[in-house]
Amino acid sequence: MDLILVEGVSALIRWLHVVAGIAWIGSSFYFIHLDLSLRARPDQANGGQPAGVQGEAWQVHGGGFYQMVKYLVAPARMPDELTWFKWEAYTTWLSGFALLVVVYYLGAELYLIDRTVLDLAPWAAVLLSLGGLVLAWAAYEALCRSKLGDNETPLSLVGFAFLVVLTWGFTHLFSGRGAFVQIGALIGTIMVANVFVVIIPNQKKTVAALVAGRAPDPALGRQAKQRSVHNNYLTLPVVFLMLGGHYPLLYATRWNWLIVAIVLLIGPVIRHFFNSRHAGKGSPWWTWAVAAAGMALVLYLSAAGPRTQTGAAATVPGFDQVAEIVVSRCSMCHGEAVAWPGIATAPKGVLLDTPERIRGQATLIALAAVRSDAMPPGNLTEMTGAERAALGAWIAAGAPGK
Ligand code: HEC
Repeated sequence: MDLILVEGVSALIRWLHVVAGIAWIGSSFYFIHLDLSLRARPDQANGGQPAGVQGEAWQVHGGGFYQMVKYLVAPARMPDELTWFKWEAYTTWLSGFALLVVVYYLGAELYLIDRTVLDLAPWAAVLLSLGGLVLAWAAYEALCRSKLGDNETPLSLVGFAFLVVLTWGFTHLFSGRGAFVQIGALIGTIMVANVFVVIIPNQKKTVAALVAGRAPDPALGRQAKQRSVHNNYLTLPVVFLMLGGHYPLLYATRWNWLIVAIVLLIGPVIRHFFNSRHAGKGSPWWTWAVAAAGMALVLYLSAAGPRTQTGAAATVPGFDQVAEIVVSRCSMCHGEAVAWPGIATAPKGVLLDTPERIRGQATLIALAAVRSDAMPPGNLTEMTGAERAALGAWIAAGAPGK
């Protein structure tokens, strides 16, 4: 019963997390687009634009026309009703953090820790993960508020190097999958903190100044804008990292940290394409060439195989030997009767306990345990490189049954 409850809660939180993320990213993409597509009114020269208006945009959606007008800093008079956009971001973080706890912290042995990387106790892994989130956010905040923060190009270069070094570090603390979710959670935390600590409080101060009849400080808006731009460029990489944790060839191969580094570049380049287009500054098609080259490099790197090098097996093993490897390394979790504490039924319905099932799942075995070392999770059953190589040779020979 408790297992059913845990699974149910986990599925519910994941559902909420994805929906909140869609709402957040959707509204954020929408406002970036709106902001960039604002144009001065044609009659501006004749004084047709109200004081403080930066520009306007006409949009059509769902059977109606919308005239959007943006006031720079703020309108002269506060409207009676003002819609804030913050719960999309907060809900995404709260549900994401809950999911991190349920999947990665409560299941640290399976998902966060890899003893061949570092033999951590679950509580130590959880503390490292939490500490990493807090410290990285504090370092980012300090960076933005330092002198460097005034200058976008050096700031983004340092920010990129900072994230790559962290990723490399996490791949030396956690499992590949744990490292992916950790860096994804870290970037997501920075993004939500930008909303919670800077963007919303600054907007509140601006509103308070207006209500009090004072002129709001334009620096507040500039600071919020900077963080909003960071969030814009981090969106695509963070989504990739969250999904990447489900792709063994990405997270459980040798160059997993380099793959993350490349994606941290591709994401902003793609955003640049859309930003330029929406701002009416043409379509920089070169961005797609860069993104395609980057993805080709990602695929090439993902072909490097498991982190523990296996070497090639000299001969194709007989099926008896293959079955013995799989039964001794996999079937305690992937069997009709699971003999692993905390696992109720064979994960993802993958059964590897009879000769037919083993042969039938040869491609999945190749993906999870030969081309990558995603399985066994954290190498809990201590599979050797030679065994991976033997399975590889068997699969390459067409997974024969003898
Ligand atoms: C300690 C238990 C355990 C052992 C041992 C284990 N697995 Fe798994 N396996 C899991 C869990 C848990 C999942 C589900 C992972 C997830 O949630 O994405 C899984 C998922 C899989 C999947 C599905 C991947 C997907 O993305 O759908 C395959 C294939 C797989 N395992 C193959 C293997 C092979 C091959 C071995 C032996 C070399 C093995 N497993 C050993 C626990 C185990």
